[in-house]
Amino acid sequence: MKRTKIFADANLAIGEVDPHLYGSFIEHLGRAVYEGIYEPGHPAADADGFRRDVIGLIKELGVPVVRYPGGNFLSGYDWTDGIGPREKRPTRLDLAWFTTETNEFGTDEFMKWCRAAGVEPMMAVNMGTGTIKEAARLVEYCNHAGGTTISDLRRANGAEQPYNVRYWCIGNEMDGPWQIGHLSAEEYGRKALEAAKVMRWANGELKEESGASWCASPLKLIVSGSSNHEMKTFPEWDRVVLEHTYKAVDYLSMHRYYMYDEDREDPLEDFLGSADDMGEYIATLQATIEYVRAKVRSRKQVKISFDEWNIWSVTAPRREPLWKKAPHLLEDVYTFQDALVFAGLMNTLLNHCDVVKLGCLAQLVNVIAPIMTEKGGRTFRQTTFYPFRYLSSSARGATLRTFSDSDRFANMYGEARYINEAVNYDRARRTVCVSICNYAQEAREVELELRSFEGLKAEEYVEMHSNDLFAVNSFDEEKIVPVQRELPAVKDGSRVTLKLAPMSWNFLKFSVR
Ligand code: AHR
Repeated sequence: MKRTKIFADANLAIGEVDPHLYGSFIEHLGRAVYEGIYEPGHPAADADGFRRDVIGLIKELGVPVVRYPGGNFLSGYDWTDGIGPREKRPTRLDLAWFTTETNEFGTDEFMKWCRAAGVEPMMAVNMGTGTIKEAARLVEYCNHAGGTTISDLRRANGAEQPYNVRYWCIGNEMDGPWQIGHLSAEEYGRKALEAAKVMRWANGELKEESGASWCASPLKLIVSGSSNHEMKTFPEWDRVVLEHTYKAVDYLSMHRYYMYDEDREDPLEDFLGSADDMGEYIATLQATIEYVRAKVRSRKQVKISFDEWNIWSVTAPRREPLWKKAPHLLEDVYTFQDALVFAGLMNTLLNHCDVVKLGCLAQLVNVIAPIMTEKGGRTFRQTTFYPFRYLSSSARGATLRTFSDSDRFANMYGEARYINEAVNYDRARRTVCVSICNYAQEAREVELELRSFEGLKAEEYVEMHSNDLFAVNSFDEEKIVPVQRELPAVKDGSRVTLKLAPMSWNFLKFSVR
């Protein structure tokens, strides 16, 4: 059996994991909102129509922050359509997804839902059809205490206290020709800077440079970066946009979905290469940020908000005709193989936690999501739910730098490791957690050496493995779930030998004295 050595040392950290790395995303798309988080009349709905069964699963998943309302939807959305008495709210065509939006659920409902779900809201302003005035007014609506027409409107709509929303995306995927109101990098960079200025001013921040503020709770502004690294404009888009906005924003947004494409020559190898490819993509944007930081002579460190990432088989056909309300769109059912790649993507995010400080799994319910719902009925956890749940609850504290001699396989992106891992040390909770994917078709032995820890003891070991790479979970049965494995012994205080099943994800948790 081939053997891989991995070592990590308690004193060698890449960076600290920001809990916001485990965020997610709800867009007005398909059944994410309607029949997803919101379904008045459902047996599990509360008085506001929020599905409590779904909230229970979101809490189990461990999501601290949720981005809203889009996505592509955002670029045609007028936020004033979604406030005030429901019977007066307009019904609109949504030109992003060719559906009908009734606006029954809007900003105030989302804020209320966030409180019920125990998550922090992350809002977005429309930079497609929207103006900087509308962006500033949305900040005023959410964050200004009262005494102006806009803030008093919020109070009249039932929210006496301001929402104090901290995280704000300035537009969505503005580099994409598919975006309503798509702009060039130059046009968007200039508009985003002006939006950032007035949004901060509306929030009581008197200087446009972030960090230099007299306001109690400054905004965290996220400027729209590349939609993926296959865009012709990547990474020039990011350079130009950052050169305009560097001093005014806090994060550069990046997005990426990976897919299994059976029409490729080596579809499995290419799909399994996703995790290492994602690392390259992050490294390029990190270098772009550093370049601009030097160019604009700033001491401030802009971070990355990876606010859309997931597996998405974009070829899945639409199941409903045009202009329906809440149609079944993008309801990917994830396979075991998807979960394996997904776990590798999570390892990559953890291994870049020094620069990726915020992440949003896109999306959360029904639409390319870990949680699925039936109208009026049941829920189920997709295969991808499990790696997320284990890592969001345990991969905290510092990510340790790992050194590995894993062999590699060729794929469309270059070369990727067969054994892909992340090791986290949570000093506060005195735990070490290890996430390892075996992307080889045969069992592998891994010798894990965790140095400079006192009294290391294995407390948990679970494995996700199936002989059927295309096995899925459903409303009737969750058959792809992690299973308990026998706890390994720790030899000489630091060495653990593991036998990894072929094509498996493995999660271990150790306590430290
Ligand atoms: O998450 C689905 C869509 O993917 C989002 O609306 C858009 O931002 C991205 O292209």
